Amino acid sequence: MKTILITGGAGFIGSHVVRRFVNNYPNYRIVNLDALTYAGNLENLKDVETADNYIFEQADITDPAKLKQVFEKYRPEGVVHLAAESHVDRSISGPMAFIQTNILGTVNLLTAAKDLWNGNWEGKRFYHISTDEVYGSLGEEGLFFEDTAYDPRSPYSASKASSDHLVRAYFHTYGLPIVISNCSNNYGPNHFPEKLIPLAIHRIQNKEEIPIYGKGENIRDWLFVEDHASAIDVVFHKGGLGETYNIGGNNEWTNIDLIKLLCKIMDEKLGREAGSSEKLITFVKDRAGHDLRYAIDSTKLKTELGWEPSLTFEEGLPKTVDWYLNNEAWLNNVTSGAYQNYFKQQYQER
Ligand code: NAD
Ligand code: DAU
Repeated sequence: MKTILITGGAGFIGSHVVRRFVNNYPNYRIVNLDALTYAGNLENLKDVETADNYIFEQADITDPAKLKQVFEKYRPEGVVHLAAESHVDRSISGPMAFIQTNILGTVNLLTAAKDLWNGNWEGKRFYHISTDEVYGSLGEEGLFFEDTAYDPRSPYSASKASSDHLVRAYFHTYGLPIVISNCSNNYGPNHFPEKLIPLAIHRIQNKEEIPIYGKGENIRDWLFVEDHASAIDVVFHKGGLGETYNIGGNNEWTNIDLIKLLCKIMDEKLGREAGSSEKLITFVKDRAGHDLRYAIDSTKLKTELGWEPSLTFEEGLPKTVDWYLNNEAWLNNVTSGAYQNYFKQQYQER
């Protein structure tokens, strides 16, 4: 049985990756390593927690001694690294956690894998999950390609860019068998409601104001989270060593158009008068250094590895709304306590 260590498996994307690997690869032992920060929620994995091939290990990637212990205990052949501080706004108010987890934590993991594998690279793989934000901000035209120069502009994206460089450095310097992917904005079930789509769903449900930064003209390229998980599966198994793959939805929306569509879907689902949720839209102070537009070219992934997304946004968005409406307990649990305090801090001055 092959052992695969997945970091950040209790988070949004990580939980979909863990579920996919546990269910699709019974011959793999999946070790989910997660510190359970505010964003880690084991409720996301209730359906697989008793599977024979699943193990949870609470560990912080900023702790190298603990990582050494975990690597020696399970001796993984593969690492899929998703653990990170992931919210841009939090990186603006508190960058240090991003430096610690995203940069130092990634180096700790690279070192733990390098020390365990000790030059025996055959059958080994370190897969680093990154973001399109490392490429910076696009104007109205153009796309991000794998060879687009890095130009990160927030502490979050700078920390992810730094970790990408370090992963490549371990490949070139030590020969560590690595692969990297850079993905656009994900949406779907289990998305923490500090991010735009789940935040808006939650606020519409409660008839509360929906905060839109600036004029709502910023553009993101949205991909359903299970399609990111399927891309991660493909890259992990078929991606070339040392290679980078861009993953995107080819699905650009301005924030304001997206929120208007969401309002329309929710009015219909909640039996509210057409146009009533749109009235909740409130324009607030813009995010500092707010990147205008992200858009990914995923031709390499599609043509070389045969990946295709399974859902259009018109299918995925209503499906996501249904999930939140059917999982009120999940939403209530994550929106209680510490998250509420954070929400006040984040929006008080806007
Ligand atoms: P998330 O914030 O929902 O989850 C992060 C997980 O990492 C949580 O379970 C958390 O407990 C864990 N974690 C955080 N710090 C840790 C530490 N020091 N040690 C161990 N575990 C720790 O994030 P997400 O949105 O699921 O993103 C996962 C990865 O995908 C990140 O690397 C992110 O940069 C990348 N990514 C995200 C998106 C997106 O749209 N969300 C898009 C592209 C790439
Ligand atoms: O592009 C990939 C990235 O997408 C990931 O690497 C990040 O981890 C992930 O958080 C996401 O970053 P964004 O900053 O694009 O996502 P967020 O949901 O925070 O914001 C989406 C857009 O909506 C962005 O233009 C800011 C805007 N926004 C966000 C919030 C939270 C608002 O207008 N109002 C809000 O309240």
